[in-house]
Amino acid sequence: MFPLRFFSLFFVAATTDYDEKEKEKKKEGAYDISVFKRGDLLEVPRTLFTHFGIYLGNNRVAHFIPDILPIFSSNKATIAQMVSNSRLILGVIAKVASVRIDTVEDFAYGAEILVNHTDEVCSRPPFPGDEVARRAEKLLGPMTYSLLWYNCEHYVMYCRYGTSMSFQTYQFCKTVRKIVCSKTSAFLSALLCLSIMLYFGSLSLHGILPTLLIPFTIWMAS
Ligand SMILES: *[C@@H]1O[C@H](CO)[C@@H](O)[C@H](O)[C@H]1NC(C)=O
Repeated sequence: MFPLRFFSLFFVAATTDYDEKEKEKKKEGAYDISVFKRGDLLEVPRTLFTHFGIYLGNNRVAHFIPDILPIFSSNKATIAQMVSNSRLILGVIAKVASVRIDTVEDFAYGAEILVNHTDEVCSRPPFPGDEVARRAEKLLGPMTYSLLWYNCEHYVMYCRYGTSMSFQTYQFCKTVRKIVCSKTSAFLSALLCLSIMLYFGSLSLHGILPTLLIPFTIWMAS
């Protein structure tokens, strides 16, 4: 874990400025929480993917979010602060995550909130609002995170519809399959390998890249 800790500290420090700017954005637009009902599914576009949470009432949102901080800090007050984008991305890579309760503001992190959007793509009707919220509350605490198999969308799908299918994962798998299986990409990668071998003449680069990339991809996909 040591290299990971070191890298995390460096990354969080380096991106603090960017996160400060994101926070400023948040202050401008206040959220009208009076329109949210207990059990509503809240959806916000955040960094690279869409984030999901369940509204519990009283300005509280239960959400399953990756966060690197618990790995190198045991300070509860620091961890309770809103999860910045750098903490989130590193949490995805390290697969450390938990179901936590935050205010609507901290949950949305400056982004626009969509309500019950997933109802349109899910083939099942949702549970009653109070049942949804109770299912969400039951799962509070640390949980293993997997980008493909268990992410924030699986969590809300489980709470609201009783299924943990993730539409994002489904889309992602379809896209990956399309890219991997396409003839163009096979041709391009072959061409790339050939040019690397020709131009660098040595094993160094074309030996190191696959050895790093393949284990990383398997780690992220599991
Ligand atoms: C979201 O769905 C719940 C039913 O689970 C409903 O009571 C609520 O009015 C919906 N909210 C919006 C904004 O559509």
